Amino acid sequence: MFEPPKPAKVPTLNYRKLQEGRDYWVQDNFLPNADEISERAFARTDWELGFPHAKEFWPGMRSHNLLSPAEMAEVEKWVKKVTGMKKLWQPEAPAGAKLNHNCAQLVGENESGPRPHTDSRKLCRFAAVIYLSKNPKPGCGTSFYRLRYPNGTLGGNQCTPPHNNLGEALGVSKLPLQAWHEDFSVENVFNRMILYRADLVHSATNYFGVEHADKRMTALFFWQAS
Ligand SMILES: [Fe+2]
Repeated sequence: MFEPPKPAKVPTLNYRKLQEGRDYWVQDNFLPNADEISERAFARTDWELGFPHAKEFWPGMRSHNLLSPAEMAEVEKWVKKVTGMKKLWQPEAPAGAKLNHNCAQLVGENESGPRPHTDSRKLCRFAAVIYLSKNPKPGCGTSFYRLRYPNGTLGGNQCTPPHNNLGEALGVSKLPLQAWHEDFSVENVFNRMILYRADLVHSATNYFGVEHADKRMTALFFWQAS
């Protein structure tokens, strides 16, 4: 049977089969004052604009310092407990890069779609999202992906050293969405926390809403850890 010639260099990634409690953690009813924090997030006025409004990779808009230091301390207590890490911190982002830790992110259905990526290994080991929309649309949580080759074979899902991000690991700046197979997804539920290894290929599954109050609101966090 005729087989088309293979490209000289096929991008490869390590495949790590995701295990809850090792690679990701989900906790419902996470914030004791989720209603208040959700209202606080929607009421913010100090938004920074991302894609498609500005030349940024990240979508929609973001507002910083959503949780108070006391609220952050409770979040970090939980992160340390479930991951077994002793120390969490945010490294200084290199010039031109921004670490959007503890920010509200609001993204509507017309602003972006799924964009599988890994977070810079230089900047974080764990990332987390708390869903803060009261009436989320189904299929708009967080998804994890693995490579899918044109012949249907499935590949890896992890950015491993010495690479810091997917672009370095794959040798291309971007792959089309069809190059990714959704391995599994976590549904968007109000006040659900999902924490995950930031080196695993992930994305928002999708976004929803057109009006400010109806869009997909999340709180985002990034940590280095040891
Ligand atoms: Fe990410």
